[in-house]
Amino acid sequence: MVVSSPGRLNIIGEHVDYTGGFVLPFAINRRLYIEVERSDRFVFTSEGFKEYRFSRLKKVGDWPDYIIGVIKEFEKLSLKVPPLCFRVRSEIPPGSGLSSSAALETAASLAISQLFNFNLSKRQIFKISLRAEREFVGVNCGIMDQYTAVFAKKEHALLIDTYHETHRYVKMDLKGYTFGVINSNVKHSLAEGHYNKRRKEAEEALKEMGKSSYREVTLDDVENISDPILKKRARHIVTENIRVKKTVHLLEKGKLNELGKLLYESHESLSKNYEVSCEETDFIVEFMKSKGITGARMVGAGFGGGVLVFGEKPKILAAYTELEKFYFKKFGLTPQLLFIDSDDGVRVDP
Ligand code: GLA
Repeated sequence: MVVSSPGRLNIIGEHVDYTGGFVLPFAINRRLYIEVERSDRFVFTSEGFKEYRFSRLKKVGDWPDYIIGVIKEFEKLSLKVPPLCFRVRSEIPPGSGLSSSAALETAASLAISQLFNFNLSKRQIFKISLRAEREFVGVNCGIMDQYTAVFAKKEHALLIDTYHETHRYVKMDLKGYTFGVINSNVKHSLAEGHYNKRRKEAEEALKEMGKSSYREVTLDDVENISDPILKKRARHIVTENIRVKKTVHLLEKGKLNELGKLLYESHESLSKNYEVSCEETDFIVEFMKSKGITGARMVGAGFGGGVLVFGEKPKILAAYTELEKFYFKKFGLTPQLLFIDSDDGVRVDP
């Protein structure tokens, strides 16, 4: 049996999914496939990655941990998982902010559920996958990635309310515009440490404002924060949520040029207020802006990774061709461009 799950691209709403904010991602047409069958031992194979075999599950500090974390979650629900062989194949480039890890977790969850007729609901698949990442892999992430991999629908973005853990679909009619991702090909170390630090700062800022949730926070509250760093962090969270709502409106009205401006604003805030960008991704965004591309911003956790670009395909291609030269000259690195379409969430493939 083969199960596949998509990567995701977040249009807007970055670094707000762990503070009860709104995010607007969609599933992309780059998927990860898992073939699973019974075996005498646990076997994990994936082309281009190290293979693992063992009779008792343990943490290995490598890619199978995402699946092992999922199995552990099944066990916590008293659903016994006997030894299985997992064969993984992925079209999702790692390190571009497209969340290949959530694809792996959700595909593994659905595959196990199907194989043993556990009949888990979509929400259970989402929860198991999220807990695997948080509790076993140890990344204290928000809900966006696993939620999107499970609930996404082709040609639609998901407006996720991460406070209530609900969503509504927003039709994506791009009128000849397209999304792309430029991989900066840098991943600054300490990225995970910075991620957890931002989470803490966001909580501290909330405390300083005397609020229990960012849903109650206004821009005036933010301006009253005395600590300059915490003020900037909270400013990002509050303004980003406003931008998400505006983006949904513009997407529904087909005002895509204005939408592009919000993407640049989001980047500016991620870079200056939340400080999760870096020289390389700032450079790519600025370059795209100078070439008249409709919108661009860093995506995902940041500190390197991917830049989302939005606009007309030929224009993006022309700008990217120039970028390659300048980027190499400045950083000695070659970026990569990928055009992206929408897709459905995790599913059993025929
Ligand atoms: C990572 C996390 C998500 C989200 C983004 C930033 O991808 O896994 O939950 O917080 O960073 O928006």
